[in-house]
Amino acid sequence: MHHAGSDEHPPARARSGAVIWLTGLSGAGKSTLAQALARQLDELGHGCYVLDGDVLRTGLNADLGFSPEDRHENIRRTAEVAALFADAGLICIAALISPYRAGRAAARQACKAGFHEVHIKADLATCEARDPKGLYRRARAGELPAFTGIDAPYEVPERPELVVETAQVPLPMATAQLLEYVLQRVLHQPQ
Ligand code: ADX
Repeated sequence: MHHAGSDEHPPARARSGAVIWLTGLSGAGKSTLAQALARQLDELGHGCYVLDGDVLRTGLNADLGFSPEDRHENIRRTAEVAALFADAGLICIAALISPYRAGRAAARQACKAGFHEVHIKADLATCEARDPKGLYRRARAGELPAFTGIDAPYEVPERPELVVETAQVPLPMATAQLLEYVLQRVLHQPQ
């Protein structure tokens, strides 16, 4: 229902909500870049919130494992939450492996126009050499079945809005690339 007067009283705060969806292998740098981007957006006065796969799996998604079905449900729930944050006017930065094209396409649908897919790209050898959590070593030892990149697939994004190559680009520059994309293409701010 249309409320009389709503046109004369637009909200004082600009509605700049959007979802920045970071996808990539474990160890590619999604969480690090998500935090770095959030810090910079914060400093510029933009409200933002990070949804990190590892963190969500301790709460909202604690009941889910790593089968294709569970990963799909993990992405589905996270995309719905991200859409709510975006609707509240925040820049929601989601950092999940999200290995399946179909799951990412569904996330895009759930988030409507404000969805930006960013491939945080590093080759498997680089991620495995970094191995920040020792998970690749455990996966190679057979202790972690269905590990993405080892014995579970990662479907490379075909047409992401942005690719950030973390094997080649140092972290400060990768963060700057991401920030520039968000300011120009998401918030439409002239540089
Ligand atoms: S997703 O595939 O469903 O998108 P998500 O990003 O939530 O994955 O979680 C990935 C994190 O879970 C990894 O960073 C790693 O710490 C942990 N993990 C544990 N087991 C696996 C596995 N088999 N495959 C991938 N990541 C795993």
